[in-house]
Amino acid sequence: MTNINLSQPTITLRQPDDMHLHLRDGDVMRSVLPASTRVFRRAVIMPNLAPPITTIDQAKAYKKSILSEITKDINFLPLVTAYLTDDISSDELKKGFEEQVFFAAKLYPANATTNSSSGVRDIRNLYSVFEMMEQIGLPLLIHGEVTDSDVDIFDREAVFIEKYLQPLLKDFPLLKVVLEHITTQNAVQFVESSEYNLGATITPHHLHINRNAMFHGGFRSDFYCLPVAKREQHRVSLRRAATSGKSCFFLGTDSAPHLRDAKESACGCAGIFNAFNAIESYAQVFEEENALEKLEAFASEFGARFYGLPLNNDFITLEKRRCKVPDRIPLVGSFSEKEFIVPFHAGEYLNWSLVNTQT
Ligand code: NCD
Ligand code: ZN
Repeated sequence: MTNINLSQPTITLRQPDDMHLHLRDGDVMRSVLPASTRVFRRAVIMPNLAPPITTIDQAKAYKKSILSEITKDINFLPLVTAYLTDDISSDELKKGFEEQVFFAAKLYPANATTNSSSGVRDIRNLYSVFEMMEQIGLPLLIHGEVTDSDVDIFDREAVFIEKYLQPLLKDFPLLKVVLEHITTQNAVQFVESSEYNLGATITPHHLHINRNAMFHGGFRSDFYCLPVAKREQHRVSLRRAATSGKSCFFLGTDSAPHLRDAKESACGCAGIFNAFNAIESYAQVFEEENALEKLEAFASEFGARFYGLPLNNDFITLEKRRCKVPDRIPLVGSFSEKEFIVPFHAGEYLNWSLVNTQT
């Protein structure tokens, strides 16, 4: 249970896991990885690289490249996922899962988000793959948005749930499914009342901002991500869900770094880099909702239990100390000084700071 010391405000909790993380590769990965490894013990790593991770060899090489950047004093386990395409090999997926290379498989509807052009065009093409996944227990992670141009961008999650998720769960009642980065009251209600093996991740940014953030005094691409932030009523609903103590809702940051130039362009990329202070950002939400005692279960237990992973043995401590978030995160490697990443909460103060990792 979360240990809260009120005389000298600190919270100690079991080391958390990030159940949805974009690390990228190469020098960007090298630049952003320490933000995650300083606090998380494990992370489910998204496969939307260019080219996407669709084979066992690619997944092995990617995992190796991540691990090669981590110093020996840090315990961090990347849980690598496969990227589903219309013609993905069912045998390759099965073998990859059995060899513990693929932790899960990710479904991006084609062109729904960053690097999803090779994603799934027709979900029905994958029905035999889902059958296999259901049989062997390979979890299906879903970017739950339709892409039809006649569906309003703010309705895309709700329409996906009705049109695709509901029938999918009916057809594969034993399939383990995670609806990733939920953004609507519709998703909250659907997940919490589901009789199936369905969980959902919730990001820090969708708990902090509503869609106004993107248009405050002008267009602000720093707050543009997919699924896009919705109206205030949805943010309120997500905050209730995250702090409800319901085990179907768990931590997944969807931290998605993009260089400044790629965000701030005529066609700015979707994605918010929140790993730099993700746990502090979540802690602030739980404090505001008077639910700090529920943070540990959300961050460190529900996700692990959903996936059948053992709980982590180590603990982290946060203390109530205001901390200013930098305006920009420098990059290592082959970048010029003009290139950087803007973190979520840039220039703001957060109330909690990470103290240490205890063993
Ligand atoms: C993600 C990215 O940049 O890879 N972007 C985002 O806005 N969340 C992809 C995704 O998870 O949709
Ligand atoms: Zn994502």
